[in-house]
Amino acid sequence: MKRHLISAADLSRDDALLILDTADELARISDRSIKKLPTLRGRTVVNLFFEDSTRTRISFEAAAKRLSADVINFSAKGSSVSKGESLKDTALTLEAMGADAVVIRHGASGAPHRLAGWVRGSVVNAGDGTHEHPTQALLDAFTMRRRLGSLEGRRVTVVGDILHSRVARSNVLLLSTLGAEVTLVAPPTLLPVSVGSWPCEVSYDLDSVLPKSDVVMMLRVQRERMNAAFFPTEREYSRRYGLDRERFARLKEDAVVMHPGPMNRGMEIAAEVADSPRSTIVEQVANGVTTRMAVLYLLLGGADLGGEDQ
Ligand code: NCD
Repeated sequence: MKRHLISAADLSRDDALLILDTADELARISDRSIKKLPTLRGRTVVNLFFEDSTRTRISFEAAAKRLSADVINFSAKGSSVSKGESLKDTALTLEAMGADAVVIRHGASGAPHRLAGWVRGSVVNAGDGTHEHPTQALLDAFTMRRRLGSLEGRRVTVVGDILHSRVARSNVLLLSTLGAEVTLVAPPTLLPVSVGSWPCEVSYDLDSVLPKSDVVMMLRVQRERMNAAFFPTEREYSRRYGLDRERFARLKEDAVVMHPGPMNRGMEIAAEVADSPRSTIVEQVANGVTTRMAVLYLLLGGADLGGEDQ
């Protein structure tokens, strides 16, 4: 594996499978009553969050702590960033504090890539602008594998605001590496211009794609990134692209419904669909911790997993 995890495209098929298999192993250990492993004792992981986040920041923190790493949480609010300090100066400060890994979320696409040029430790992209969110794609793939087995030839449909979604881009890249067939469904205004070169199909018609799907991943409409009207009204969006009860009823019997969160209940997904047993939304959160443990463990080259008796 490379030293950094910045894009899902950094992962070969073997790398991705190694992470997923390691996460499986870690999940078995996490089922024990004592969840903590001594593997990354004495290592320092810095969480550098320039954008709001609930689950991703907490998930990385829990993952690092379960591996016994020291965790430093940095959020831009209340820091010298609000005094105009540059990303480079912030990076050099972290470097001086001896960070072995820096987990970064930033509003600018490309920020983790820049950071990787300035620090000695590993950089993990926890979401950069509208670019990528590779650990979300890994936890999604992990969740799909647990429900469906191998992803080879499975049909995954990703629906909604693809234009602003780093989750969609990372998922398309990782899922195609793992042999799944991805179809993106969105109104034309919510698809990036470059989508033609992505390794996936595109459709504007949710109802024609749903009956063939093994996985339906609903995305949030990211209003905070919208500076114009991308669709007529919320009702109209919901009617054409929302996963409501009627559409849910037409899914294959063993199909699963996913959402990376945070959800707009009633908009892209009906509350009862989100809460159904075929939805993996809560599992995705739990699996996020195990998957991120696997990533940190493999990037930081922790001690052997097998020998740790609890
Ligand atoms: C996503 C993100 O921040 O990219 N959420 C997440 O990490 N679980 C998606 C979103 O904000 O809608």
